[in-house]
Amino acid sequence: MTAPKKLFIKTYGCQMNVYDSERMAEALGGQGYTEAKSADEADMILLNTCHIREKAAEKVYSELGRFKKLKAAKPDLKIGVAGCVAQAEGQEIMRRQPLVDLVVGPQSYHRLPEMEEKAQTGEKVLDTDFPEEDKFEQLKRRPKAKRGPTAFLTVQEGCDKFCAFCVVPYTRGAEVSRPADRILTEARDLVERGVREITLLGQNVNAYHGAGANGDLTLAQLIWELDKVDGLERIRFTTSHPNDMMDDLIEAHGTCKKLMPYLHLPVQAGSDKILKRMNRSHTAESYLRLLERIRAARPDILISGDFIVGFPEETEEDFQATLDLVEEVKYGTAYSFKYSTRPGTPAAERPQVDPAEADDRLQRLQALLTRQQREIQDSMVGREVGVLFEKPGRQAGQMLGKSDYLHAVHVANCDRQAGDLARVRIVSSRTNSLAGELID
Ligand code: SAH
Ligand code: SF4
Ligand code: F3S
Repeated sequence: MTAPKKLFIKTYGCQMNVYDSERMAEALGGQGYTEAKSADEADMILLNTCHIREKAAEKVYSELGRFKKLKAAKPDLKIGVAGCVAQAEGQEIMRRQPLVDLVVGPQSYHRLPEMEEKAQTGEKVLDTDFPEEDKFEQLKRRPKAKRGPTAFLTVQEGCDKFCAFCVVPYTRGAEVSRPADRILTEARDLVERGVREITLLGQNVNAYHGAGANGDLTLAQLIWELDKVDGLERIRFTTSHPNDMMDDLIEAHGTCKKLMPYLHLPVQAGSDKILKRMNRSHTAESYLRLLERIRAARPDILISGDFIVGFPEETEEDFQATLDLVEEVKYGTAYSFKYSTRPGTPAAERPQVDPAEADDRLQRLQALLTRQQREIQDSMVGREVGVLFEKPGRQAGQMLGKSDYLHAVHVANCDRQAGDLARVRIVSSRTNSLAGELID
């Protein structure tokens, strides 16, 4: 038996990276690694990185620079880079930062144990292939370890949409859906381990079309299969593309009780000229009509979105169209970003908007989105909502959880435990959370 080794994983980027980090920890668990609480006590550090915007990608190098001292003090320390920067920059990472021992792309995580063994012999290892074998099948979960009440479950990966600004089709490859039976097995296993809420993940999750016993399943059909899993109380999914919002999925929002009234449906911009140049293949109008249909099925659904401002050739008038669309939709939450040039994407070659102008637009958009978010949050006061408790709060007797609409909710004098679902009356709204009281 070798002495137990400690692994520290730092995760950036989207929820798919959170899911992947868990899988990597489990893959390396088989090599004798247990979780380190900090980088200082680790024998191996893995950065699971994001390439979506320049800032996210550059952060990796500053973070790696900080490990120099640790490596000097502990020469056996292994440092690895995983995720979308690993995929996009590969060998370049080792050239820019020689202390890196291992570079692994998102499709090769199941090969980590072999890679780790090689790295232990002092070899530098790199794998950014898109291999034939099914990485999910190789990344079997360790059985029966207890876990918290919410979990992510990747059902679809990659993207074929090629929005003109986006690196995902290059870093994650072509769109692939996992077979339904594998997802259901994983979901049942999660439920046995204490999970009550599962968020199905995919860069384009509503385009899901995984193999089932009688042909391919749509995302809605997969959700109905999950609906039958006893002990699973809540289902969510993210991220959806407006063009793949199928009729059966819209309908499920009205009829499936376990499907939560929350939908992340990025629009990116409100000007049709810009949407066309972004290669989004929907218009502002088609997006608004789609939301009407979704709200007809589930009137109280909370809508969330993503926006990019300062996309090449965006004029003040184009930006106004984005503000107008936001005014019309009323978003419960939203993520907005200043356009970031990504090498190799079509928009990188186009005339750029003045950065100061883009900053100003971002501030104006965020002010509007923050106001809407607060209004919707405040409108919850007095309402009864379902809350899934996740952990105790800082004050004695307080529990923290999430409402059906994904608002953070605190309940004082609460006799419930993590994993319990309860009906709660919302009594007040604070900056980023709601306070509630148990109804029964
Ligand atoms: N697959 C999802 C999410 C992709 S990345 C979707 O299609 O919506 C998450 C968000 O990052 C995007 O929705 C977009 O708003 C933003 N984003 C992507 N590329 C960007 C870029 N080059 N600059 C700024 N924001 C970007
Ligand atoms: Fe990127 Fe567009 Fe695909 Fe979303 S749909 S991952 S924004 S290319
Ligand atoms: Fe970032 Fe890759 Fe996710 S680029 S947003 S970590 S898919």
